[in-house]
Amino acid sequence: MSNTAILEINGEKHEFPLIVGTENEIGIDIKTLRGVTGGVTTIDPGYKNTGSCESAITFLNGEEGVLRYRGYAIEDLAEKADFLEVAYLLIFGNLPTQEQLDKFHADIKKESVVDDDIKKILDAFPKTAHPMGVLASLTSALTAFNPSSVNVDSEDDMYNAIVKILGKFPVLVAWTMRKKQGLPLNYGSEDLGYVENILKMMFEKPNKPYEQNDILINALDKLLILHADHEQNCSTSTVRIVGSSHAGLFASLSAGISALWGPLHGGANQAVLEMLEGIKEDGGDTKKYMAKAKDKEDPFRLMGFGHRVYKNFDPRAKIIKKAADEVLGDLGVEDPVLDIAKGLAEEALSDDYFVKRKLYPNVDFYSGIIYRAMGIPVEMFTVMFALGRLPGWIAQWREMRLRKEPIGRPRQIYIGENHREFKSINER
Ligand code: CMC
Repeated sequence: MSNTAILEINGEKHEFPLIVGTENEIGIDIKTLRGVTGGVTTIDPGYKNTGSCESAITFLNGEEGVLRYRGYAIEDLAEKADFLEVAYLLIFGNLPTQEQLDKFHADIKKESVVDDDIKKILDAFPKTAHPMGVLASLTSALTAFNPSSVNVDSEDDMYNAIVKILGKFPVLVAWTMRKKQGLPLNYGSEDLGYVENILKMMFEKPNKPYEQNDILINALDKLLILHADHEQNCSTSTVRIVGSSHAGLFASLSAGISALWGPLHGGANQAVLEMLEGIKEDGGDTKKYMAKAKDKEDPFRLMGFGHRVYKNFDPRAKIIKKAADEVLGDLGVEDPVLDIAKGLAEEALSDDYFVKRKLYPNVDFYSGIIYRAMGIPVEMFTVMFALGRLPGWIAQWREMRLRKEPIGRPRQIYIGENHREFKSINER
């Protein structure tokens, strides 16, 4: 195979090297394009064909439905690892030894308290505020209370910022939900596992002792692992690009949370549940909604279907579908919305429109059903996605800084007015 690509512009040939990844993915290295061509640029809206970086964190093959973190199959990690081990793996590159994991957890626990003044900020939000907006604001506000986490001149500084956010973020998540529900803000317990503690912080009632439920702990652990990273998606690219200006970790994460909020990205899990509820209330006629999804005049899309990269089954959706059946079975929940979801999935998987466009259920199609069975309010679903994605964002931000990547600054092709003479206001 030739290891260069040749581009001919106005009769002149330019040669560009090919970069081959460890899974034999090929990229054309166009770093010199503008220089050698005198300013020619590329246009790729939505970056469908653009690699923004080289990364050693997550591999996914959308055609074959493969997802691996640092070389480990998502199926193995979901079954055999816990969320904190996966977080360590993503951020530092290898699965931790017991000693490394214990130290990591101990360092996180030391940072699991937030400044009490954060409560005043939270208090200023109306109860109706969407939790994702609140979470983005509080995450950004953390910078003000932890100014030392902005300048990361060494790996130690970086480590400190990382354990700080891993400690404080679950507190913000739990408080965001408790504020909405009018419950007193609390802390968990140092004696609990990372995920166990999150559930205690979220669900402990002021008037009765909290009892842990292993089914919920295992289900949440699995969901968080499945959401932990997904290479250069919209929110992760946002975190990397904001961080590329050397903005601090918390500010970069806050931007990532805002990107995740949208219904075409993480907000899809909330949108799926709302869609399924809507179909139920409208009599449960799935065929009607299938027809709406296919009608190009109708803006309705089947939420939870399709993916920019997966053109085969989303491997996370397979694991989650099984988990949803198990969790609902274990908790003894019968949910008519799950039946509607199953019906829609069956119809879509055998429908020409969806088959031709390779639209399969994605991770968010089933995750909301589990969250609902766990008692998590619908508006918190995307917050749970953010909680899971946190280690991935951190790992990608850290990689970007360690590789000393340049500031992200795309080009454009200008299509506006040519030079115009200025006219004073009474001449216009
Ligand atoms: N329902 C109906 N038609 C669809 C859907 C859908 N959910 N998704 C894509 N299409 C059609 C689309 O209309 C287009 O048709 P045509 O070729 O006739 O114009 C074709 O499929 C290709 O779609 P696209 O919008 O060009 O694909 P994309 O790669 O730009 O978008 C997507 C990917 C995920 C934004 C899109 O599939 C979508 O809007 N899905 C619903 C929202 C959703 O579930 N998002 C969660 C993604 S997974 C979680 C995460 O990682 O963020």
